[in-house]
Amino acid sequence: MDPVENPFAPGAGTPPPELAGRDEVRESVRITLERVRRGLPSKSVLMVGLRGVGKTVLLDRIRDDAEGSGIQTLRVEAPEDRSLPAILAPQLRQALLRLSRNERAQALAQRALRALAGFASALKVKYADIEVGLDLDPEPGLADNGDLEHDLQALLEAAGLAAQSAGTALAIFVDELQYVPEEELAALITALHRTAQRRLPVVLVGAGLPQLRGRMGRAKSYAERLFDFPEIGSLPVVAAKRAIEKPARDHGADITPDALDRLIAETRGYPYFLQEWGKQAWDAAPESPITLRDVERASMTAVAALDESFFRVRFDRLTPAQKRYLRAMADLGPGPHRSGEIADALGREVTSLGPTRSQLIAKGMVWSPNHGDTAFTVPRFDEFMRRIMPGSDWRA
Ligand SMILES: Nc1ncnc2c1ncn2[C@@H]1O[C@H](COP(=O)(O)OP(=O)(O)OP(=O)(O)O)[C@@H](O)[C@H]1O
Ligand SMILES: [Mg+2]
Repeated sequence: MDPVENPFAPGAGTPPPELAGRDEVRESVRITLERVRRGLPSKSVLMVGLRGVGKTVLLDRIRDDAEGSGIQTLRVEAPEDRSLPAILAPQLRQALLRLSRNERAQALAQRALRALAGFASALKVKYADIEVGLDLDPEPGLADNGDLEHDLQALLEAAGLAAQSAGTALAIFVDELQYVPEEELAALITALHRTAQRRLPVVLVGAGLPQLRGRMGRAKSYAERLFDFPEIGSLPVVAAKRAIEKPARDHGADITPDALDRLIAETRGYPYFLQEWGKQAWDAAPESPITLRDVERASMTAVAALDESFFRVRFDRLTPAQKRYLRAMADLGPGPHRSGEIADALGREVTSLGPTRSQLIAKGMVWSPNHGDTAFTVPRFDEFMRRIMPGSDWRA
């Protein structure tokens, strides 16, 4: 069928043609934001999940939902190499400028802009990467201590008062939150704790890898009670089918039931793979409906495409010892696997492999679904490892 018309969207942060299976999370965040707006007790939300499950597109959709109902939002992505105050300040400024156009909120929004001016000037010493336009002069003593924990708290309180006077809420969306250093995370948690205590309408909606949960707890022990952690994962069968069928139909193509079953089985319902397979199956089909044969051909090109890019870039970042570890895991199947079994496969002691395992977790190659278990972070990586390191030389 015509590739120009192909609706599927494999990529990073690329919105899918149908955001399947996420209605529950969207609804629960909607309720949270409405409660926050009304000054009712509610928890901030941190969506956790592995790479490629659709955290970014979900975060963006929830933000659109929130804006649509008149909530003030700001959105940032935590990069590995910039400070949280530096990425927050310019976005917060824009939200405050928008609030200051509201007559009822004008005075308090201006006060919050003064707080931002104090915040940026005082913290510039420690976080040199802060670059933000200052609209008003600082107010001495307001968010200008030079201590992040104190100043962020004062700043978010001032912003919360402004949002409150406008009858709205301020929702802060942060993607890749696991990259924020623990000290900055702690300051953010403290500030949110404070605004929650004062029933100010400020809320965080974050997304990150599963290790985020532990990081939050280490940064502040009460964090677990301040946040909800919805888990974002692969889609159950019904939702996965919808992710394929609906866009195909909308673009004038059907798919036969056996073809759809095969496609879901091949992708394991993993959102990134659904887009990749959907795209390849569309291109492989000479006409509607997409048949089992088309999906079989699509699987070959999809796997080849993954081998060339998605899997390959991950593999190329590994040291020889890390490759051997993953190859041993792959030998045992898709997993999860016990550390002892992996060590046996390598003929090593579990303790001597600890550092390699930790490095692989830090690189996002494996994770620990339960204590003592190790699993690949993306489906089908075991097959890839067996393809790229065939035979048994790796044992040597
Ligand atoms: N609910 C869904 N239904 C169908 N496709 C989806 C869904 N969610 C995400 N996708 C698709 O999956 C791919 C990955 O999405 P996204 O980049 O949001 O994942 P992520 O969890 O943010 O990954 P990473 O951790 O690498 O940033 C995209 O191609 C997107 O279109
Ligand atoms: Mg993402």
